Amino acid sequence: MKDETIIKGVAHTETIHDSAIKQVQGRAEYTDDLAEPYGLLHAYLGLSTCANGRIVSMDLDAVRSAPGVVGVLTAEDIPGHNDVSPTGKHDDPVFAEGEVKFWGQPIFAVVAETRDLARRAATKAKIEYEARPHALAPIEARDAGFGYVTDPLTLRRGDAAKGLAASPRRIKGRMSVGGQDHFYLEGQIAMAVPGEDEDVIINVSTQHPSEAQHMVAHVLGVANHSVVVNVRRMGGGFGGKESQMSLFAAVAAVAAKKWNRAVKIRPDRDDDMSATGKRHDFVIDYEIGFDDDGRILAVRGDWYARCGFSADLSGAVTDRALFHADNAYYYPDVELHSHPMRTNTVSNTAFRGFGGPQGIVAAERMIEEVAYALGRDPLEIRKLNLYQNGQLTPYHQEVNDQIMPQIFEEIEASSDYHARRQAVLDWNARAAREGGVIRKGIAIVPVKFGISFTATHFNQAGSLIHIYTDGSISLNHGGTEMGQGLNTKIAQVVAEAFQCDISRIKITKTTTEKVPNTSATAASSGTDLNGMAALDAAEQIKARLIDFVAERWQAPRDEVKFVPGHVRAGETDIPFNEVIASAYAARIQLSAAGFYKTPKIHWDRPTGRGRPFYYYAYGAAVAEVSVDTLTGEYVIDRADVLHDVGRSLNPALDKGQVEGAFVQGTGWLTCEELWWDKKGQLRTHAPSTYKIPLASDKPRIFNVKLADWSENAERSIKRSKAVGEPPFNLGISVFEAINMAVASLTDYREPARLDAPATPECVLMAVRRLQG
Ligand code: MTE
Ligand code: MOS
Repeated sequence: MKDETIIKGVAHTETIHDSAIKQVQGRAEYTDDLAEPYGLLHAYLGLSTCANGRIVSMDLDAVRSAPGVVGVLTAEDIPGHNDVSPTGKHDDPVFAEGEVKFWGQPIFAVVAETRDLARRAATKAKIEYEARPHALAPIEARDAGFGYVTDPLTLRRGDAAKGLAASPRRIKGRMSVGGQDHFYLEGQIAMAVPGEDEDVIINVSTQHPSEAQHMVAHVLGVANHSVVVNVRRMGGGFGGKESQMSLFAAVAAVAAKKWNRAVKIRPDRDDDMSATGKRHDFVIDYEIGFDDDGRILAVRGDWYARCGFSADLSGAVTDRALFHADNAYYYPDVELHSHPMRTNTVSNTAFRGFGGPQGIVAAERMIEEVAYALGRDPLEIRKLNLYQNGQLTPYHQEVNDQIMPQIFEEIEASSDYHARRQAVLDWNARAAREGGVIRKGIAIVPVKFGISFTATHFNQAGSLIHIYTDGSISLNHGGTEMGQGLNTKIAQVVAEAFQCDISRIKITKTTTEKVPNTSATAASSGTDLNGMAALDAAEQIKARLIDFVAERWQAPRDEVKFVPGHVRAGETDIPFNEVIASAYAARIQLSAAGFYKTPKIHWDRPTGRGRPFYYYAYGAAVAEVSVDTLTGEYVIDRADVLHDVGRSLNPALDKGQVEGAFVQGTGWLTCEELWWDKKGQLRTHAPSTYKIPLASDKPRIFNVKLADWSENAERSIKRSKAVGEPPFNLGISVFEAINMAVASLTDYREPARLDAPATPECVLMAVRRLQG
């Protein structure tokens, strides 16, 4: 290691993502790139073709006798429990047993010498079903009495019924919001390598190695210590690998132990989209009471979610929808209910925002309702109803870090919002007069997003740091890298702590062998939690080194400091390498395990009260769109974003997160449509029928800025704030701008009330309806 006096890659710098160069050169290893063990077999799933029914007969002989097939696995071959439910509800079978509950449910797996042979063999199954009535959509499921997959939640403060009755104005409405496929570039994949005794190593693309470990152990019927899970990086997760990888990890593990050979499973995109859960779609019934000034007085709402056939993470997702049903606004009297409906569809799961966006989008619809009813700019209604510090949310958490007024002020000016809104109004007025086919819309939308897992015990993290005798550092923590730059940010924190160049630090794969009992890298909390745990480990080693240096170099302890590339003892600068070599010789421990748990948070679900969030992240976006009223197509002419990440650990990575989240949020509300046929088969299961935003769909002008003056009021890691999910919600500005363009056809007498996604087809139908 060279001596450094100028160090690179410390906290708050635009340090390059550690994988970036490897990724563009194709040298970054994903699970499918790992060197394959000798004798590797390949598994492939057989999926149901019935949405709800009893399996009458199952003939797998042709599958077994197909070329290259080694064997077939069904529920009977599972040595432990046929269950990968992440909540312990035992309602997520690996393989269907006796009955199927959605079209696309795994029934068996075939294991063959090559993936191609396994895939061909899987099509040869003959399975007969006795179909039962099914329900695909949440309201349909409610009316059919299908019940809930998990306990619903109620949030209540004040008296909504009384508040509504006393309100001078009231509006009732319903909004449908579609789901979303994760469309990670790297699909689900797992490779299991059997070991001696009950051991098995699983390489799997997952955001939650500990969950994969526990689920594989549960399915094999062995102790957690027999299962090791590794992941160096994912090609995107977006929530889709928080629980959904367990199925693949389990199938690979069962096969590997049964035939004592390594087994890989990698479904193709169609099967991945059919057999794994997605963002929850919701139907939201709302009622809002307000006064003539636009002040919200009371809100009542019901959030009906399509949860699918099992609970998976639906409880926490539907809870988070309610936690964000206020977005940034104070509701004096409020009552909110979640309805996690059981449906005959794949079990829906985590997806960026974790239900929060489905709360926020309804809050913003209610703002539009008030604004259009009063003939006002929605921005005025937004500002009037923003939380003031000291006010309580519907879950009784006090808001005390409100920075929205400052964000609005800055973005209104930088985006020239008021002049541009006037220009949009003028444009539409001219189009109305002269029969122009292009209508425009502009909208400014805030976001306030709660940071922490709402299940308090998940808010913990561990780390492990080793310094080797040459002064190089190995850094490990429980978080996973999915493209978001978590590993880079944490390495920056450690580089800063030791005042060394980031090149000294080796970012290693996440493995259950190094840090146990980890939480999912989710809820945007990866850096907050693991960064703190890594800092704790670094501080432990530093404290030992300071004691050692003070003694060896004869300086008072408080005069020993880490300076770039060196440790300073009084007047003497000792190169870091020399300190490490001497410390080793003096038998100082150069390794430490760190730990962190988020302070201050607590949540009591039965009473709906507590402080589930450590802090809030804020932001705002202004979007302007042009809608072609002849085709329903639209373009985003311009988007301006101002987002709060506290004191950014890495402004380049954070901006990347904000841009990506904005575009993904826009995709959710505009072009990404999940469509099931009447029999319950998902028909949009490949890029041919499911459209994610393209590079050409991004805003023509896209100005993204971080609120660089912001600092986390709480003692988060270096006063930064989580960034992964909050800016996803800013895509709502595009949705509302499209709504405004359509509403211009009736001279804004009422909101367009488009359902999401507002595909060109939906927009065209709304245009036709309004034009009579
Ligand atoms: N960014 C990329 N590039 N890929 C991803 O899969 N997942 C998002 C977000 N940003 C994701 C991403 C989701 S859903 C979450 S919860 C966070 O990253 C998780 O990482 P963090 O906690 O380190 O921010
Ligand atoms: Mo993100 S949905 O919390 O993985």
